[in-house]
Amino acid sequence: MAMIAKQCPDIPVHVVDVNASRIAQWNSRELPVYEPGLQEVVEEARGRNLTFSTDVDGAIRDANLIFISVNTPTKTFGVGAGRAANLEFVEKCARRIAECSTGHKVVVEKSTLPVRTAEAVARILASSATNATFDVLSNPEFLAEGTAIQDLLNPDRVLIGGESPRAVEQLVAVYSRWIPREKILTTNVWSSELSKLTANAFLAQRVSSINAISALCEATGADVDEVARAIGFDSRIGPKFLKASVGFGGSCFQKDILNLVYLCEHFGLSEVAKYWEQVVVMNDYQKRRFSARIVRTMFHTVSDKQIAIWGFAFKKDTNDIRESAAIAVCRDLLEERARLVIYDPRVSEQQIRDALEGIFKDATGVLSDRHRQLVREHVTIAPDAYAAAAQTHAIAVLTEWDEFRRLDMGRVLAGMQRPAFVFDGRNILDVARLTSLGFEVHSIGRP
Ligand SMILES: NC(=O)c1ccc[n+]([C@@H]2O[C@H](COP(=O)([O-])OP(=O)(O)OC[C@H]3O[C@@H](n4cnc5c(N)ncnc54)[C@H](O)[C@@H]3O)[C@@H](O)[C@H]2O)c1
Repeated sequence: MAMIAKQCPDIPVHVVDVNASRIAQWNSRELPVYEPGLQEVVEEARGRNLTFSTDVDGAIRDANLIFISVNTPTKTFGVGAGRAANLEFVEKCARRIAECSTGHKVVVEKSTLPVRTAEAVARILASSATNATFDVLSNPEFLAEGTAIQDLLNPDRVLIGGESPRAVEQLVAVYSRWIPREKILTTNVWSSELSKLTANAFLAQRVSSINAISALCEATGADVDEVARAIGFDSRIGPKFLKASVGFGGSCFQKDILNLVYLCEHFGLSEVAKYWEQVVVMNDYQKRRFSARIVRTMFHTVSDKQIAIWGFAFKKDTNDIRESAAIAVCRDLLEERARLVIYDPRVSEQQIRDALEGIFKDATGVLSDRHRQLVREHVTIAPDAYAAAAQTHAIAVLTEWDEFRRLDMGRVLAGMQRPAFVFDGRNILDVARLTSLGFEVHSIGRP
């Protein structure tokens, strides 16, 4: 929405949220989201044609186009728990829009939703509204965190699904202010909804595919980066998204694949469901495999050993830790009674402690005293990478932050115990150089 406001100074954009503290952050100098270039975009438009407030009803009344962009997490209860999307927040938005609207409005699904949600939204709008009529469009978001501003400025494509040519044209008119028309694809609503789930499933599948091969590389002596390079030269495969790692994270990939799996099951397509579920199974395996390798390499015990964790965000250039591989690896190492010293340039101590306590909660959301104590006593947060590594037996690199490539590794080594192990979960460090300095380096997909 900030990008629309920046590119279309004559269009007033009102961002509203029920979370008052988040809105206060959007109105402050400390935005709730770290994203390169976002601060500048927000500051250019804020106060001109971009506002942030909690006046949901007022914003609905004033708007011609309404984007529903609320969270659609995996359901944790009831039918479809652990797979289906929780559509409670989307439905609440639809009901609120119906109650507050007059005249004609175009309602745009920006959240990622299961196929045929637009039908439900349209029914709720039509049956609850007294003074208004609506068109519902699907306009999924394809930006990637960490490169969001570039992705929004110059997207590969914008996708708009809708039945009403007039409504579709209204939204096309907004995007075409800065995006060439040939990159704005229009489809029917169901294709648009399904394309978003499919795009994320294909992207995550590529990561799981190369990660599966990384396990075979470790067993055979092949090098996964060399294999990725060799296959990436094939123009049918292409070089992107073939980086082996400790596993994918982020709020979307797992949730969207599970949502796809649930849809397939719902329509009786159990083979298709199992096929896609394997992408998530492989990702969980890759995370577990990484922590197991740390324990095995360190003489089968990490109990009471100090391990530096470099990076906690799910990828570089974001402060988002949702489903980060770091959470799963830290959980496994804490279960083994390791002492963790964690450093991430953008993630706060509170975020890290909340996530680690969260992962140990049982199905009813209760954290046992034993786990609370484990997180309190075995986790320390360091102010930088050097401080995190001091006195440790090992370093685990869990996020590919650029600053980790530029460290004085001689200085790092000087402060560590021997043997000084490095487990590079992102394959960003120079193995030959580190080995010559005296580290014992273990990376993904290398013998
Ligand atoms: N984060 C991404 O990179 C990304 C990319 C593409 C698509 N998406 C999709 O976009 C959607 C939102 O993702 P997110 O990461 O921004 O989630 P988020 O949880 O960070 O933000 C959702 C916001 O919606 C607000 N909200 C919930 N119910 C509300 C209501 N009834 N009225 C007003 N506000 C309400 C919440 O307070 C919260 O601030 C999801 O469907 C996600 O799959 C996200």
